[in-house]
Amino acid sequence: MLKIGVPKEIKPMEGRVSLVPSAVAEIVHNQGTEYVETGAGELSGFDDQQYQDSGATIVDNADALFTAAELLVKVKEPIADDLKRLRSDHVLFCYLHLAANISLLEKLKKLGLLAIAFETVESRGKLPLLAPMSEVAGRVAVQSGAHFLHESMGGRGVLLGGATATERGQVTVLGAGTAGTFAIKEAAAMGANITVFDLNADALTRVREFGPNITALYPSKNVIERVLKITDLLIGAVLIPGEAAPKLVTREMVKNMPEGSVIVDIAIDQGGCVETIRPTDYRQPTYVEEGVVHMGVTNLPGAVPRTSSEALSAAILPYVLQLARGAVDESPALKAGINVANGKIVHPALISLV
Ligand SMILES: NC(=O)c1ccc[n+]([C@@H]2O[C@H](COP(=O)([O-])OP(=O)(O)OC[C@H]3O[C@@H](n4cnc5c(N)ncnc54)[C@H](O)[C@@H]3O)[C@@H](O)[C@H]2O)c1
Repeated sequence: MLKIGVPKEIKPMEGRVSLVPSAVAEIVHNQGTEYVETGAGELSGFDDQQYQDSGATIVDNADALFTAAELLVKVKEPIADDLKRLRSDHVLFCYLHLAANISLLEKLKKLGLLAIAFETVESRGKLPLLAPMSEVAGRVAVQSGAHFLHESMGGRGVLLGGATATERGQVTVLGAGTAGTFAIKEAAAMGANITVFDLNADALTRVREFGPNITALYPSKNVIERVLKITDLLIGAVLIPGEAAPKLVTREMVKNMPEGSVIVDIAIDQGGCVETIRPTDYRQPTYVEEGVVHMGVTNLPGAVPRTSSEALSAAILPYVLQLARGAVDESPALKAGINVANGKIVHPALISLV
């Protein structure tokens, strides 16, 4: 069995941890060896003692963790010093989003390690390791959007559900997959009017049935343009797996949105589906461009690490066990998740990018 290491995340204000103590106990029960960096679970509500009680060895710092571990199970892509700690014999298992990060793709290729991205692990046409965080991100996007619509936050001062003798707020959602679906549910529960666009007719039928305040449409450019003129909150949630997100909203369309409206582009980790969006983090989550508040936080679920870590850990655990056993070849789902191996780019959506 490969020795598993869980480092402390170092992305600014990222409180998630990849494996929670109950998952570690499961790994140890299956004869696995688990190292956890001290404090890795702290912001998710799990202290070192809980990991120790689950059978993990706590290591003092990231250097020791990367040295001891063969299989690194992280949440976000490696950045800064973590990149210097990676070796060619490491297996890296985490979110990578390499289509939007060519320099990291090149670095991982040069390192020669095996890098498997959570978001491209595919089972029966589904993305089981993206889905739990998309669920959280969809909900957080609407909660955050509602907050940034407050006048005191630079927004246009609209309450999404409206009030007696007022109109309801207008939420527009691009993409009715997992993130889009949960954004729609959250916005519908708040009482907003919702218009959702997707290429997939089945997805449109499904989300339309959530309630009478939901209109589901094909994403024709002129229809998106028309709806954006009356939109208070735009949520970007489209995905073509492994590829950069298609740009559905141009700068011109953003210019024509109401002053003080808000965009939360969940698809920012794949480059974003709005021309004016750029990556931000929770230290300074928004900026204003063309009079519209933009939120491009690449780790939206990081705001709710207690919920997110448990959901993520449960989803990845079976795959971590397979990887630790060295059984990648027996798992079509894990094989689909391989982005880089032995100095070569393996994922079809990435091959043409370098
Ligand atoms: N920022 C974050 O913190 C965060 C967290 C989780 C997920 N994400 C991202 O959110 C995005 C959505 O993820 P998901 O799990 O919901 O994906 P998904 O595959 O479940 O859904 C994507 C939807 O987009 C639709 N789509 C694709 N191209 C389209 C187009 N041109 N026009 C209209 N619809 C189109 C698809 O038909 C599909 O229904 C991804 O980029 C994912 O990486 C970001």
